[in-house]
Amino acid sequence: MSLAQIQNARPETAIVLGSGLGGVAEAFGIECEVPYAEVPGLSASTVPGHAGRFVLARHHERPILIAQGRRHLYEGLSAAEVTAGIRFMHEIGVKRVVLTNAAGAIDEQFHVGGLMLITDHLNLQGTTPLLGGPNFHDMSEVYSRAWAEKFHAAAVEIGLKLHAGVYAGLLGPQYETPAEIRMLHRLGADAVGMSTVPEAIQARALGMEVAGISMLTNWAAGLRPQTLHHAEVVEVGKTASLYLARLLKAVM
Ligand code: HPA
Repeated sequence: MSLAQIQNARPETAIVLGSGLGGVAEAFGIECEVPYAEVPGLSASTVPGHAGRFVLARHHERPILIAQGRRHLYEGLSAAEVTAGIRFMHEIGVKRVVLTNAAGAIDEQFHVGGLMLITDHLNLQGTTPLLGGPNFHDMSEVYSRAWAEKFHAAAVEIGLKLHAGVYAGLLGPQYETPAEIRMLHRLGADAVGMSTVPEAIQARALGMEVAGISMLTNWAAGLRPQTLHHAEVVEVGKTASLYLARLLKAVM
């Protein structure tokens, strides 16, 4: 199975799967798999719950490139490094990408185990993949409104409750303090996580259409009597992957 197979298939749509969401790939017909280590500029993930490979899938004859697992800034990488996969996608002709992640729920209207369509983000990671040049890209619609409408319509079609809100991207890797969550709430965040923002910025800067979906794996710190564990985040993500897979298939 090779990289050439992926390139030759010319997928125009890609999906990046976050923590514990790797199982979504199995819901599509898998044609071939290529470990990131075999892609120039990419390297394997160090995070449990992240597989670290590209999967070429097919849905209604259409090729879809699925990135199973991503790299994070908290691994000590630069924003340019964590977005190498997005630039690879763009190079091989991908025009639209769905970025998924696991996130903590801040909005009390949400439910844990549910999905939130990202309407906008707060970049609180202190960096950007566009560093190094006068890259004054417009970010007034990072997440495509037209595509969001299709997600909402698909959710209605399959009877799935799809929340919508603002994703705050933090550096991590520690989870937030309750005071930080209160601050994020006041800043307008509805969910919090440690990924997605650099990829969304990079994809938009390259002119790709972007959608973002957060799997709400837990209440953010301080909202409920609890402590946060990565293993639980991955576990909730696995169960809720089934809903995510159904939603993605309905949209594609
Ligand atoms: N905070 C940050 N990242 C996360 C969380 C959280 O509560 N849950 C899953 N990823």
